[in-house]
Amino acid sequence: MNGKIVHIKSFGCQMNKLDTALVSSALKEAGFSLTASVKEADVVLINTCSVREHAEQRVLSHLGHLKHIKENKPDLIVGVIGCMAQRLGDKLLEHEAVNIVCGPTQIPQIAKLITEALERNEKRLAVTEKILQKTSENQNQTLERFESAYGIEDKKIPSQAYVRAMRGCNNFCTYCIVPYVRGPEVCRAPEAIIEQIKRLASQGVKQVTLLGQTVNSYKYKKGRRIWCLADLLDAASAIEGIEWLKFVTSYPSEEFFDEILQVMADSPKVCNYLHIPAQSGSDKILRAMNRNYTAAWYLELLAKARATVPGIAIAGDFIVGFPGETEEDFEATVELLKKARYRNSFIFKYSPRPGTTADKRLEDTVPAEVKQKRIAELLAVQEKISDELSRDFLDKEVKVLVEGLSKKSHLNIGGSGDNPQLVGRTATDYIVVFNGPTSLAGQFAKVKITKTSPLTLFGELI
Ligand code: 5AD
Ligand code: SF4
Repeated sequence: MNGKIVHIKSFGCQMNKLDTALVSSALKEAGFSLTASVKEADVVLINTCSVREHAEQRVLSHLGHLKHIKENKPDLIVGVIGCMAQRLGDKLLEHEAVNIVCGPTQIPQIAKLITEALERNEKRLAVTEKILQKTSENQNQTLERFESAYGIEDKKIPSQAYVRAMRGCNNFCTYCIVPYVRGPEVCRAPEAIIEQIKRLASQGVKQVTLLGQTVNSYKYKKGRRIWCLADLLDAASAIEGIEWLKFVTSYPSEEFFDEILQVMADSPKVCNYLHIPAQSGSDKILRAMNRNYTAAWYLELLAKARATVPGIAIAGDFIVGFPGETEEDFEATVELLKKARYRNSFIFKYSPRPGTTADKRLEDTVPAEVKQKRIAELLAVQEKISDELSRDFLDKEVKVLVEGLSKKSHLNIGGSGDNPQLVGRTATDYIVVFNGPTSLAGQFAKVKITKTSPLTLFGELI
């Protein structure tokens, strides 16, 4: 113990949640202790997301709040890590509240940076200068050591863990900041991933989610053999203790798709869930986004998935109001969404990101109120579909992996004492709320569904 207390706040995607978990355990290893309260903390770290402007604004307003706290507590060290740190670098360091700026590639240095900032009260910057260049072997090894040494916990949800299959992205969809903040694609060695999953399993982890921006394009040459995601899933399925395997996010691509679907169909451990964003249903917009497929081809891909894996649940992402999106283009998106019959869609308004091709070459032509109208319409169409799909579960039994206490108190289901409201997820990623003992957290349970809503199923423990 070095006596110093750290509070970490995390914004953004699963990648960030994993980084937060890695940083947390690295800091504990280095003698820091963690707290859920900003008041108690000597150090506040914010793990940031740059994917939309709104995410960055939330971080900036949080920094404003920390600046006030520092007026009464000038020794407080504030560190910004993650995508926004890489994107803004020294500009962020100029912020009055900020002492440390550390990009995603530099997180193995975080304990050292904090120690230096505490000792010398100097500002510390660690980001990648040339982010689009291939990461050096040295850097990859450092990240790999950090990843495999500390990637053994996700304290938030018992018996579940994220494991990175690959870092970065090479796709350069024209709206997307990810390649500019997380750098080029690097796949981790299969043996490192499998060893890590074995270790997690020996510590009681039952569900592993493999992560990558385009995880289905995972590819690693080992001797004469090329490992793809299906091989990883197959090898991980053989690990004792691992019950469920999930993976996110997939890019609509034919490469390895059949193999991945087949392992899903064949292995009871590989969950029948596919998150495969379409982004738009208009071929013109898909081209402008640099997505390499047409709407018709994408729908064929989904049809193939459903034919190979009956009962598969599919989720998607969409961006509305991309530059040049006409009413007709938007209608094509509505059509695609209806035909795809997603179990759930994540829908976003286009947000220009500095430095991306769309931002440099295309004007943000769709007015804010039109974006708002389109997002509301698309959400309503999806809600109706989700509601219909959820209703199929009425009176049926589902198996869930219990996450713990339900954060929201849902109406119509009472219960307290040793029978509080719990939340779990099915293999197909449905959220299930029911009453049961807290000791079920991290265990599998069977629930009979008595009520449904578009995104949540409610039921009774069997
Ligand atoms: N504006 C709005 N949404 C975006 N996404 C990525 N970049 C942007 C942007 N500039 C969405 C995509 C992606 C999800 C993670 O975020 O739908 O799949
Ligand atoms: Fe961004 Fe496209 Fe890469 Fe996804 S595939 S992270 S949207 S560039």
